[in-house]
Amino acid sequence: MKEAFKAIKVTDNVHWVGAIDWAVRDFHGYLTRRGSTYNAYLIMADKITLIDTVKAPFKDELLARVSALVDLEDIQYIVSNHSEMDHTGCLPDVIEAVKPEKVFASPNGVKALESHFHMGREIIPVEDGGTIDLGNMELTCLETKMLHWPDSMISYLAKDELVFSQDGFGMHLATNERFADEIDESILDFEAAKYYANILLPLSGFVTKLLERVGRLNLPIKIIAPDHGPIWRQDPGWIIGRWAKWAAQEPTKKAVIVYDTMWGSTEKMAKAIGEGLTAGGADVKLMKLRADHRSDVVTELLDAGALIVGSPTINNNIFPTVADLLTYVKGLKPVDLIGAAFGSYGWGGEAVRQVREILEQMNVEIVGDDTRAKYVPDGDALDCCHALGRQVGERLVEICTAEAAAR
Ligand code: FEO
Repeated sequence: MKEAFKAIKVTDNVHWVGAIDWAVRDFHGYLTRRGSTYNAYLIMADKITLIDTVKAPFKDELLARVSALVDLEDIQYIVSNHSEMDHTGCLPDVIEAVKPEKVFASPNGVKALESHFHMGREIIPVEDGGTIDLGNMELTCLETKMLHWPDSMISYLAKDELVFSQDGFGMHLATNERFADEIDESILDFEAAKYYANILLPLSGFVTKLLERVGRLNLPIKIIAPDHGPIWRQDPGWIIGRWAKWAAQEPTKKAVIVYDTMWGSTEKMAKAIGEGLTAGGADVKLMKLRADHRSDVVTELLDAGALIVGSPTINNNIFPTVADLLTYVKGLKPVDLIGAAFGSYGWGGEAVRQVREILEQMNVEIVGDDTRAKYVPDGDALDCCHALGRQVGERLVEICTAEAAAR
């Protein structure tokens, strides 16, 4: 199999040898509508080195791409930058096939690989800032703990001014184009934002610190080669700038209304609140949870300043799709949001209070009172919804104006 799967040249020394997953749609709860790639790279140094592997079912694709360049036994080193199984699932099989002289990981990576695969073989820990001598070139490893796992590290090939950034600066996007400059910018923008919102958002403080550290190190960076999505070779500053902006989490006057509905009443309320938000000066996005996936809601929240959540009451509780959304969003720890809770009910009406309490646990500044409508909202109830929307919108504009003045 020398023709079907090729390695793609990134530089004179580095080739992409990963796999394309056109069909994946559920990435541990994240809707990957455009699929993904699991990137791995081969450094053609004196010590031929494989950077990361791929998800287990894609092992043959990885090995075929490697074999298009070298015999498997020619690989002397494997570096595992991140132990999550989309990058290590086939590592034991690859080690078996390649029989490398050495396998490297961060100190936490060594422990994580043993806990995952129980291989009982030596994995060599590389300390933060440590180097791996590849003969005619050198790889420098920097730990990036909690970006996004404790084991994560990036490795820097000074000879090519290239960073192997593992999950960093990646996106879930299956394409036959390997480089960002070959792909429509609007697709890059959306998928990069979605990836950041769903994976990195709660770790934004670590992102800011990493960007500051890389700035202090003053490393020349010509190419960023992540483990998912396209390689950044023309303008790596494009994705670095976006990560810096998203990590800062500065709110805009965008308000996201997210809701579900049983018989259309909570939906009517959502629409009236949306009209009120517009009247109050906010930009509005309505998202119905049986039409919009939780991971798309979080993407919209990335630059939003308000989250307004609507739920009918069912069996004295929050509607299941809304409870799912709130659990997911709470874990991603968005900051500096204002918000409100609303919903229709038949008798108990507990859901609105329960929603508001979860928003409070997320440190959302609650604006206005819980807004409920019995069975079907009449004109007065919809006017109350409109008034709530206007109140949230005006508060959001006030916050954004004050922040702009302070900058
Ligand atoms: Fe792409 Fe954290 O694995």
